[in-house]
Amino acid sequence: MTLWHGRLGGGTADEVMAFSVSLHYDRHLATDDLVGSRAHVRGLGRGGILDEEEVATLLAALDQVERELAADTFKFVPDDEDIHTAVERRVTEIAGDVGAKLHTGRSRNDQVATDLRLYTKRAVFGIASDVIGLQDVLLARAQEADGVYLPGYTHLQRAQPVLLSHHLLAHGWALSRDVDRLIATACRLDVSPLGAGALAGSSLPLDPDGVAEDLGFSARFENSLDAVSDRDFVAETLFDLALLGIHLSRIGEELVVWSTEEFGFAVLDDAFATGSSMLPQKKNPDVAELTRGKTGRLIGNLTGLLVTLKGLPLSYNRDLQEDKEPLFDSVDQVHLALVAMAGVLRTLTFNAQRMQAAADGPAVAAVDLAEWLVEQGMPFRQAHSVIGGLVRDSLERHVPLGELVEAHPALGADAVALLEPGVAVTRRTTPGGAGPVAVAAQMERFVLRLQADKSRVTVSESGASSA
Ligand code: ARG
Repeated sequence: MTLWHGRLGGGTADEVMAFSVSLHYDRHLATDDLVGSRAHVRGLGRGGILDEEEVATLLAALDQVERELAADTFKFVPDDEDIHTAVERRVTEIAGDVGAKLHTGRSRNDQVATDLRLYTKRAVFGIASDVIGLQDVLLARAQEADGVYLPGYTHLQRAQPVLLSHHLLAHGWALSRDVDRLIATACRLDVSPLGAGALAGSSLPLDPDGVAEDLGFSARFENSLDAVSDRDFVAETLFDLALLGIHLSRIGEELVVWSTEEFGFAVLDDAFATGSSMLPQKKNPDVAELTRGKTGRLIGNLTGLLVTLKGLPLSYNRDLQEDKEPLFDSVDQVHLALVAMAGVLRTLTFNAQRMQAAADGPAVAAVDLAEWLVEQGMPFRQAHSVIGGLVRDSLERHVPLGELVEAHPALGADAVALLEPGVAVTRRTTPGGAGPVAVAAQMERFVLRLQADKSRVTVSESGASSA
């Protein structure tokens, strides 16, 4: 029997049911649905719509549903269109007539919006914790990299030497912006829509403020039409996850490049690489590649939802049911990617020798030679041209740059010292720069930031779990 059998005659056509059913994915919301229903029941009790005994009966029935779902003994029936219908049907079977009062003053429109906000709040903090787990790995690897340097690249051309720890922390800082964004999204979505009903509130004495508090939301909706139609929080979360995915994808791309024989900067641990079914010599960076590949899907989930929302009139429209699959998918995929990438980065071996050899090519210190001339009083443009000319000469005449530097009247032996392995990177001393002194200061700030983010996420998580 459908929820609307009073109004519509006969049953719903099988084709309609097959097309509109969402149970196979909104089962993900079972826990949140039970949490939301308990708060609704207590609210109905406070408003005197249910007496104490009815409240107790309904809460006990909801507990039983929870046990059945946990034990996998909950029997779904073909008319269970979604998880909300299924739970209400079962509560009514268990509690009899009182069960039929569960949905008083509530619509699936405010119910779904409530459940999805509860889910999203939890998911967003879960992902933020995963991100912090990856940042911990980047920090640990940065701390142990101790003086190792490699070329920093622009246009994927060797540019200037940078410390490996600086490079790793660059990804760490990008991820800290992701944590920021996730927390901000969680703050904005922290509003209860329960009590908005189908779209306009209710003639019954509901208690939206009390229900919001009961659910651990920091506020209730201000406008019932907005409450049931707002999916900004889903779009924002999908954006946060897409951009986070893009950051992971960029790390992934570097790992792919670094683990090539041509670069040889990193060797993946066997447990975090895959082999080839045909080529016995292969060791492939599949985690990095899948992370890169799945980012396309994350962007697709975001753009798909934005297109779904575009042009929808107020308030609830069935189109909104299309919000869940992309959201669940992005949350699941990003979680898996974060955990797998943390494992890859934790276990890979950096080849310091290869990195440093690549960074010791004399041309990588070209700007240091130019800056050395600036320190002697030469205008930078002129210095740039002098050193550029020497580099060209060295390449064209196959003469080592060091020899040309030594022979140059404005440069000489002191300048040649800059070309010694490992010297150039130590000269990057400005705040936020790539040399040892600046990176040590940066590392301290990163540690503090990470600690602060850990407590921000834990404090907010415990706020969310009071629901
Ligand atoms: N499964 C539906 C959803 O997720 C439930 C809401 C149905 N509401 C309605 N008025 N038909 O949106």
